[in-house]
Amino acid sequence: MYSSRSSKIIDLRSDTVTLPTEEMLEAIKSAELGDDVFEEDPTVNRLQEMAAKKMWKEAALLVPSGTMANLVSVMSNTRRGDSAILEAESHIYWHEVGGISSIAGILPLPVKGDMGVMKPEDVEVAIILSDIHSAETTLVCIENTHNRAGGTIVTPKNIQALSKVVRDYGLSLYMDGARIFNAAVALKTDVRDFTRHVDNLMFCLSKGLSCPIGSIIVGTEEFIEKARKIRKMLGGGMRQAGVIAAPGIIALEKMISRLEEDHKNARVLAEGLAMIDGIKINLRSVQTNIVLFDISGLSIDAEKFIEILRKHNVLALEFGRTKIRMVTHRGIEREDVEAVLTVIEDVVKRLKTEVRKS
Ligand SMILES: Cc1ncc(COP(=O)(O)O)c(C=O)c1O
Repeated sequence: MYSSRSSKIIDLRSDTVTLPTEEMLEAIKSAELGDDVFEEDPTVNRLQEMAAKKMWKEAALLVPSGTMANLVSVMSNTRRGDSAILEAESHIYWHEVGGISSIAGILPLPVKGDMGVMKPEDVEVAIILSDIHSAETTLVCIENTHNRAGGTIVTPKNIQALSKVVRDYGLSLYMDGARIFNAAVALKTDVRDFTRHVDNLMFCLSKGLSCPIGSIIVGTEEFIEKARKIRKMLGGGMRQAGVIAAPGIIALEKMISRLEEDHKNARVLAEGLAMIDGIKINLRSVQTNIVLFDISGLSIDAEKFIEILRKHNVLALEFGRTKIRMVTHRGIEREDVEAVLTVIEDVVKRLKTEVRKS
């Protein structure tokens, strides 16, 4: 039987639970500050310049969250009453409180992808052309890595193929790249290989890169100027935002390559789970730091299973009635993954014994 190795809580709910590093906290203390609504915060300006350069775009804009980054970007790419194509399981569609409709005034057109990747021919069929009756499609959104598909990668080749359809119809291509560095590190390629095919994108500092707050929108100068005004309208204009930007600079300089460790740990976790009778997992979908698995083979639903794990100091997220998500990140070591596997093996064994007895 599993005995608690220590009282350490192994929190696999999300990579957003990462805390800032000591160096980040020091950088916050010593950051040079100014009023960013006047575009006078030197630390914010430096981070934005770095981000634009890294993504091979003209300009960048710091915003408080990934959700705001997506909303501001959708609004900057469209007019109210337009429609936007997005993957049917995308974060924008499922987890952003419907802001795309209720605030941006956009009709979302969900297109089912394969492991988060939409086929260009399916996107083409979904496009609504301009006429008196219709909400004209002006935008296509992709998500990279794809969260609900299990951290899967939309490859540069996939994006290039989609961008061809997008160009043919004169639309814009936007990437919710909340975890785009995970994709780049996993494919051992430059992030520009992904960004070169999209018009604009956002990425998060506050996930695997360990910053406490912040996401960055990147695109042309003109797009970012529009986004700056919309950010202000939504209440996202910040003053001495250098305190957010300072850890962001460290993230871009030092935190990207270590994502590989998270991917290795996710692999170990996934392969271990695949060995446990009653757990279903598609190992093909485990490409980065997210592990999604199904417990429909056990006589328990995800909510109760998670409750039991919590009693063993293991935290996970319910992702549907029988699905569970675990995410690796800085602070989760190989030995933690092994401990989690031992806990799950033991819990599953006990569940099976209980079913046999009843
Ligand atoms: C793919 C994706 N996009 C956007 C977001 C939103 O980010 P935030 O939680 O900073 O609003 C998330 C958050 O998990 C996400 O996974």
